[in-house]
Amino acid sequence: MTDIAPSLLSADFAFLSDEIKKVEKGGADYLHLDVMDGIFVPNITFGPPVIKKLKKITSIPFDVHLMIDKPERYIKDFVDAGADILTVHAEATTHLHRTIQEIKSHGIKAGVSLNPATPLSSIEYILEDLDLILIMTVNPGFGGQSFIKSMVDKIIDTRRLIDERNSKILLEIDGGVKLDNALELSKLGVDILVAGSAIFGAEDVVKRTKEFKNLFVK
Ligand code: DX5
Ligand code: ZN
Repeated sequence: MTDIAPSLLSADFAFLSDEIKKVEKGGADYLHLDVMDGIFVPNITFGPPVIKKLKKITSIPFDVHLMIDKPERYIKDFVDAGADILTVHAEATTHLHRTIQEIKSHGIKAGVSLNPATPLSSIEYILEDLDLILIMTVNPGFGGQSFIKSMVDKIIDTRRLIDERNSKILLEIDGGVKLDNALELSKLGVDILVAGSAIFGAEDVVKRTKEFKNLFVK
């Protein structure tokens, strides 16, 4: 079963609580929150104070994707804000193993995200410490980009690596996921699909969330 994580990046920021209620009604499994700092990626979004407020209005688990430089500086802030999964980029932190340990010490799930050009081998030796691997299927920074086709091989390799180790690590992909490729991608063994513009760009967000969910009903 594949879970769906609508990315708030494509929501109307003037009506965040209404937007969240819509995906909640549609049956979203997670809410994906993209935090950008204008340094690691060329865009700026929101931080812990906004997430903390949003946490009060919904019970959907928060999947927080940090696209920020040196994320180790802010782990406690995001934990206190209500992150259930906290994912950092392998490219953004020098001591990735230490950063992961720090996240886990707070009792939440720790994820590592890899940019399209970053090899899977960069996390091979810390695999047993991870709860989630987030494969970027676009270059991070913006919603609405096209899925990079060569990432299919990376998804397959990641699934194989997880299975070879008999691990429970969740495999998540992010970027360019649409209604017409979601099922095919889920069949590669993806546990969580992130979809931003495909959900919040729809005229009827509740209906679109349900359409995604229905794809995976066997
Ligand atoms: C991109 C973000 C994504 C983004 C995906 O840097 O990490 O979560 O919202 O947007 P879509 O689904 O429109 O490609
Ligand atoms: Zn994201």
